[in-house]
Amino acid sequence: MNDYQWFIENIKRKTGIDLAQYKEAQMKRRLTSLYEKRGLKNFQEFFHAMEKDEALFHEFLDRMTINVSEFYRNAKRWEVLEKKILPKLFEQNRRLKIWSAACSTGEEPYTVAMILSKYIPLAHVSILATDIDENAIARAKIGLYTERSLQEIPEEMKKKFFKKEGMYYQIDEKIKRAVTFKKHNLLADPFGRQFDLIVCRNVLIYFTEEAKQQLYYKFNQALRPGGILFVGSTEQIFNPALYGFEIEDTFFYRKIK
Ligand SMILES: C[S@@+](CC[C@H](N)C(=O)[O-])C[C@H]1O[C@@H](n2cnc3c(N)ncnc32)[C@H](O)[C@@H]1O
Repeated sequence: MNDYQWFIENIKRKTGIDLAQYKEAQMKRRLTSLYEKRGLKNFQEFFHAMEKDEALFHEFLDRMTINVSEFYRNAKRWEVLEKKILPKLFEQNRRLKIWSAACSTGEEPYTVAMILSKYIPLAHVSILATDIDENAIARAKIGLYTERSLQEIPEEMKKKFFKKEGMYYQIDEKIKRAVTFKKHNLLADPFGRQFDLIVCRNVLIYFTEEAKQQLYYKFNQALRPGGILFVGSTEQIFNPALYGFEIEDTFFYRKIK
């Protein structure tokens, strides 16, 4: 067993996180640069150092998860969601069951809530938002953001749902109440059922081909027939029919069976 495989086994035992399902070269590069910065020589030393140093363990989690996010990320896609996808979903169901999977610090599920508020009262909106990273979830619940994550947000939404507090923007309580955050590992934990819409963006790119394919099946099973999977702008599914999907629009897939 090589140094990295040994590390994978031990991290899995310690945390339940299976690094073997993340693209190896990318993950190794990110983690190597972290342990080298700490003057450590290999993955085994890195693991032992983390066992003694809680802060280093959190840095490891931070480095492996990559929490970058922003409101209305790839704004054109959110326009498609608003103008084309949601009206169709609402024809079938007024109370939509929505899941933002790998939601990071909350920008994505909060974007969904803002868009839904154009159609229905926010008190009727309930979005499940999950991530493997508890720190990201804790930040999402606080709801304080810098200018950088608000770059793509339409001005009217910024005015309506944010209050400037010093360097930060605080998101409105009504938006916060529309989202329920939970810790969830996409590669290990069970999925819910009968979702109308699953938003899972900018995380599939980190996974191996096999892990991705399994997830497409699981997302399909988690949707109701006719439900939509919305993926990131570099994450198109090749051969969606294989997983029971048809293309509804670029980066949107409809469950057909
Ligand atoms: C780059 S962010 C994407 C955030 C948001 N979806 C977006 O598109 O802006 C990737 C997120 O995936 C989460 N993640 C990584 N592996 C995961 C897993 N196995 N299960 C659930 N979330 C995971 C990370 O913690 C991180 O918050």
